[in-house]
Amino acid sequence: MKIILIGYMGSGKSSVGKALATYLSVKFLDLDAAICAEENKTIPEIFSTNGEIYFRRKEAEVLKKLLEREESYVLSLGGGTPCYGKNMQLIKDTASVTSIYLKTGLLQLKERLIVEKDSRPLIQDLKTPEVLEDYIRKHLFERTFYYNQSDLTVLIDGKSVEEVVHTVLENLD
Ligand code: S3P
Repeated sequence: MKIILIGYMGSGKSSVGKALATYLSVKFLDLDAAICAEENKTIPEIFSTNGEIYFRRKEAEVLKKLLEREESYVLSLGGGTPCYGKNMQLIKDTASVTSIYLKTGLLQLKERLIVEKDSRPLIQDLKTPEVLEDYIRKHLFERTFYYNQSDLTVLIDGKSVEEVVHTVLENLD
C-alpha cells in the first residue's frame, strides 16, 4: 500500500502524512525532505543556487525512485509535483498507489501561507496579503486540473489533522 498526499502549499500534507503513517504503522516519506537530503541543501537554497528547472528535474527523479520502492508508505508530495512532466501519470500508473488530494480553500491557504511564506521560494517575494491572495487564486486554479486526477479528494477546511486522518481512513478501501 502506498498513499500519496497531494495538495497546494500549506494544505497540511506533511502533518496529515505523519499522523496517517503513524496510524497505519507504515513509514512516512516527504518528497521535499528526500530532495533536500540528496542535495544536502534546503528547498530555498536549491531554488536560489540551481534554479527552479533543476529543482523540478530532481523532484521528478526522486519521485520515481520513491515510487519504485516495494514497501508500504505514506508519501507527501510538494505542491507542484503532480503538475510537472509526467509525474501525475507515473503516480496513476504505479501499482498499489492511492492518491489523495487534500483540498483547501483559498482563504485558509492564504492565512497559513502568510506566516510561512519565507521558507517557500515561489511566494517569498509577494509583498502584501492581497498580492499573495491573487497569486494563490490563479496558481490554484491552474493546478487544480492535476490535483483533481487524484483517486480521492478530502476537503480539509476547518478540520483538525485528526479529523482529516479519520476522513481519509473512512474513504480508503
Ligand atoms: C512547491 C511546493 C513546496 C516545494 C517547492 C515548490 C510548489 O512544497 O516543493 O517550494 O511548486 O508548490 P510544499 O507544498 O510542501 O510547500
